[in-house]
Amino acid sequence: MNITFAHSKGGVTKSALASNLSVWLHRKGHQVAAIDLDAGEYGNKSLTTSVGQAAPEIPIYQPASPEELRDLLPQLAEQFHFTVADAPGGFQSTAKTNIELLKHSDFVLIPVKPEFDAIEPLSVVEQIIAEARIQNPLLEARVIINCLDGRTRTGRDPQSVVDLVHIISPNLRVMNQKVRIDSSAFQTARINGSVVIQGGRSPAQEDLNALFAELLSDMIVTISQHSQQMAAANS
Ligand SMILES: Nc1ncnc2c1ncn2[C@@H]1O[C@H](COP(=O)(O)OP(=O)(O)OP(=O)(O)O)[C@@H](O)[C@H]1O
Ligand SMILES: [Mg+2]
Repeated sequence: MNITFAHSKGGVTKSALASNLSVWLHRKGHQVAAIDLDAGEYGNKSLTTSVGQAAPEIPIYQPASPEELRDLLPQLAEQFHFTVADAPGGFQSTAKTNIELLKHSDFVLIPVKPEFDAIEPLSVVEQIIAEARIQNPLLEARVIINCLDGRTRTGRDPQSVVDLVHIISPNLRVMNQKVRIDSSAFQTARINGSVVIQGGRSPAQEDLNALFAELLSDMIVTISQHSQQMAAANS
């Protein structure tokens, strides 16, 4: 199962969610590999740094070109239960890499913050997904709402964020479990990159555990639907 975190906008918590999901799946006993296509990121926020510090047993790959990525993805799919990729930011200069990644992904996860600036470009992301689906028709997409702030109007009314996503991109499904803003947990976790699913209990840890459990069951249901569809098409 190849899972890719992507968005055309930067700073939407792609790397933080990718590293937490990689470590969460690893702790559940799955064979996980991480693919960092944004390794040049400054500071300690990259998938490579976060996963490297929190769970050094997880192998990390940094393919240098779309061609290297194309060859790597099918190999990793055979070796690991899950690969978790952090896509490069933006879709213009990195289009070839992103398309290659989505062509070989089972799920693309699109994090958004409850802000118009993060939600409005979803139409661009949807277009890229549609392009990838020409070659990969079973590609599934889900939007993840992160950084809900209970002190704001949208934070108190998460449905308004979901409604906005659906106005911009009516066909993108939104994960039911949202993630609250939790600067304290992420600040503390800085020593471990941005991995907050370990250590003391925190709102972010609670929400991420529930989100990843929802995602895993969603993926299991989807795989079984896809294999039924394929069996029906072949009969
Ligand atoms: N629920 C949360 N509460 C508070 N801070 C969070 C939460 N989720 C992520 N963050 C923080 O938000 C910041 C931005 O996240 P991150 O670096 O993962 O975004 P990104 O989409 O990968 O950005 P870039 O486009 O620069 O690669 C990080 O400092 C991260 O620790
Ligand atoms: Mg990043």
